[in-house]
Amino acid sequence: MSNSNAERETWSTRIGFILAAVGSAVGLGNIWRFPFQVGQEGGAAFIVMYLAFVVLIGFPAMMVEFVVGRSTGLNAVGGIREFAGGAWKYLGGLFVFIGFVILSYYSVVGGWVLRYVFGSATGGYIGTAGPDEAPVAQQYFFDIASGLDALLFHALFMALVVLIVALGIKRGIELGVKIMVPAIIAIFAILAVYASTLSGAGEAYAYYLSPDLGYLIDNWKSIVPAAAGQGFFTLSLGMGVMITYASYLSEDENLGIDGGTIVAFNTGISILTGLIVFPILFSAGVSPGDPGAGAIFVSVAEALGDLQFGRAIGVLFFATVAIAALSSAVSLIEVVVSYAIDEFNVPRVRATAIIGTLIFALGIPVTIDPVMVDLYDIFAAKILLVLGGILLVTAVSWIYSDKALAELSKGIGSFSGIGTVWLWTVRVPVLVVLIISLYLGIDSFIDFLAGPFAEFLA
Ligand code: TRP
Repeated sequence: MSNSNAERETWSTRIGFILAAVGSAVGLGNIWRFPFQVGQEGGAAFIVMYLAFVVLIGFPAMMVEFVVGRSTGLNAVGGIREFAGGAWKYLGGLFVFIGFVILSYYSVVGGWVLRYVFGSATGGYIGTAGPDEAPVAQQYFFDIASGLDALLFHALFMALVVLIVALGIKRGIELGVKIMVPAIIAIFAILAVYASTLSGAGEAYAYYLSPDLGYLIDNWKSIVPAAAGQGFFTLSLGMGVMITYASYLSEDENLGIDGGTIVAFNTGISILTGLIVFPILFSAGVSPGDPGAGAIFVSVAEALGDLQFGRAIGVLFFATVAIAALSSAVSLIEVVVSYAIDEFNVPRVRATAIIGTLIFALGIPVTIDPVMVDLYDIFAAKILLVLGGILLVTAVSWIYSDKALAELSKGIGSFSGIGTVWLWTVRVPVLVVLIISLYLGIDSFIDFLAGPFAEFLA
């Protein structure tokens, strides 16, 4: 996606834009991060908060990014510079920094997924443990999640991202997502049906689907920042990705309907993932929070050992997840690459290779131990993305609201009422909730540093 206005393409079709945005949104956030947040934050109580965030905060915040992107026709960094100007241009620098941090550990987790494609083919995680040993599926995860395996597959994942972006991506993304979304829904539905037949399914559905409001009230200080972080992460918000994608949209597009479609698809895939993970964990007698960042890997591996054609399904499952992860990773690196192309006038291929190498390097410490994934992840999702969202929403809704309203109204028929509701929603409730979330997010990060991380260092 070159940023020079003269030769900018627009999406070949409306569906092309939606597919690309869905390709960015649907990824490890839905399949890896979501179940593990649910497991750590108490099940359905978290889901209630998460859904509220996605609909009431995430969706209006997505409109904020769309407005900047479409009105300027520029990428995240150029877009915010042109839309707001002044000191707001430094916000673009924050976006680039966030992209670096997120992709560095995203790629390590993406590497785990690639590792599992091979592990499925060989059946490495299938087997029966001895009397005093950990279950095979669990042990396998800990074996590959750090060390040389993790490092090599992190390198492989980054290499694939660089390759896709260096070759020029638009066609590739549209095509990839057209295949990926139906594939995810089909494979995941099969696994969810299988999971529903397991002995622990009833208990799992209760945990996953019927919220314990008492738990929510007692634990809101950790649930709120977790829901905010997950909401931003899963919708690819807070660092300008959606600015870039909306910059390719034409003016007769109804931004609200497009955004709603993206949010609906993305949320549906997360919920579906949980319907696979939790019945399997409960049936295996594993407490839902225990596998932490390994939840999806351990549970699916556990199930596949049980299924006919388990290995083949495993290869299909993890290959599909890998495509989802790659299409999201591409959107992350694109923010950084288009910045470098604009700012330093480097050719695309060279910019991509250099940036890919730097991000790979930043991810190396993450391969030391899975606790490093948590370190990067809490910092990025609960602090950086929420901060990025706060600043962007402030600029657009308080300072440049006329421009924003004018842009949003294009492509929407009867507008004035909806526009005012949107503006005042983002101006006050969205901002207040995000500021509280940021405060609590910093708190959670400090708790993590003092707790699990200090233990790890000791
Ligand atoms: N949303 C993607 C996922 O769920 C990850 C992602 C892509 C992202 N671009 C982003 C997260 C921008 C935050 C910001 O896997």
